[in-house]
Amino acid sequence: MLISQTRVDFSIVFLCIIFSIGIAQLNVVKHNFIIKKERRILPNSTSVITQITQSPTACASLCSIQETCCYASYDRKTKDCYLDESCCPQSEPSVDALMLKKITVSFSCQNKWLKYENKCFYFSEVEKTWDEARLTCECYGSMQVEVGSSGENDFLKKTAIVYNQSYWLGGNDKQSEGTWIWASSLTNFTFTDWYPSEPNNYNHGLYYEHCIRIERKFDFKWGNANCRSRYKFICEKKVE
Ligand SMILES: *[C@@H]1O[C@H](CO)[C@@H](O)[C@H](O)[C@H]1NC(C)=O
Ligand SMILES: *[C@@H]1O[C@H](CO)[C@@H](O)[C@H](O)[C@H]1NC(C)=O
Ligand SMILES: *[C@@H]1O[C@H](CO)[C@@H](O)[C@H](O)[C@H]1NC(C)=O
Repeated sequence: MLISQTRVDFSIVFLCIIFSIGIAQLNVVKHNFIIKKERRILPNSTSVITQITQSPTACASLCSIQETCCYASYDRKTKDCYLDESCCPQSEPSVDALMLKKITVSFSCQNKWLKYENKCFYFSEVEKTWDEARLTCECYGSMQVEVGSSGENDFLKKTAIVYNQSYWLGGNDKQSEGTWIWASSLTNFTFTDWYPSEPNNYNHGLYYEHCIRIERKFDFKWGNANCRSRYKFICEKKVE
C-alpha cells in the first residue's frame, strides 16, 4: 500500500529542486529547477535556443546562463534541449522528455521587476482579463498585487502615473457583493484608496463590477471594474 502510494506520488507530483546551479558573480543569483516529468514544450512555443546537450543538467545550465530562459525542455532520446522564454509555455505528454522550470532565487529583483521594501513588482505591458492576469502572475511564481499599506500604495500609484496606465489589483468582491478581499491570500482589505464615488458595482447589463484596479481617470485611485475587461496588471513576489 505504502509502496504503490509512493509510486503514484513519484509519477504525478513534480520532482522539486533536484539540483541547483549557483552563479556567484556580481549579483548573488541562484537558479533552482522544478522538474516536470514526461512532458515537453511544444516546438511551436516561444523557443529561444535549440541545442544538443548530453544531459538534463547540461540543458538546465544553458537555461541558467541564458537570462531570458524561463523553461527548458529536454528529450532523453534525441538529446535536444529547448530553451523557452515563456514561463507558461504550451506543453504535451511525451515519454522521453522532461521540462525544467527555472526558479530564480535572488537578493535583488529580476530584470523588469521593480523593488519596493522587501518585494519585487512586475507592471505588465499586455492587457488581460482579471482572471488571466491572476494566472499569469502565478506562472511567474508570484501573485497579483495586494496592497497592504499606504506606503506600498504610494509606490504603486507613482509607478502607474509614470507609465500613465490603469492596472488591475489582486482584489475582488465576487464571493459577497461589497466584501472586498485580496484573492490570493484571502484576506480582508485593511488599507483602501477608493475614488470618492467607488466602489459603485456599476451594472453593465450582463455584468457587474467585482474586480479592482488603479484607475487613471480617477487620479490613479481605486475603482471597481468588470472583471472581464482587459487591463494591464501588477504581480508581486517577496525578495528572498
Ligand atoms: C501549437 O501546436 C499545437 C498542436 O500542433 C496547436 O494545438 C497549438 O494551437 C499551436 N500553438 C500555437 C501558438 O501555434
Ligand atoms: C495619459 O494618457 C491619457 C490617455 O491616453 C492622455 O490623455 C494624457 O495626456 C496622458 N498623460 C500624460 C501625462 O502623458
Ligand atoms: C472579513 O470581513 C468579513 C465581512 O465583513 C467578516 O465576516 C470576516 O470575519 C472578516 N475576516 C477577518 C479575518 O477579519
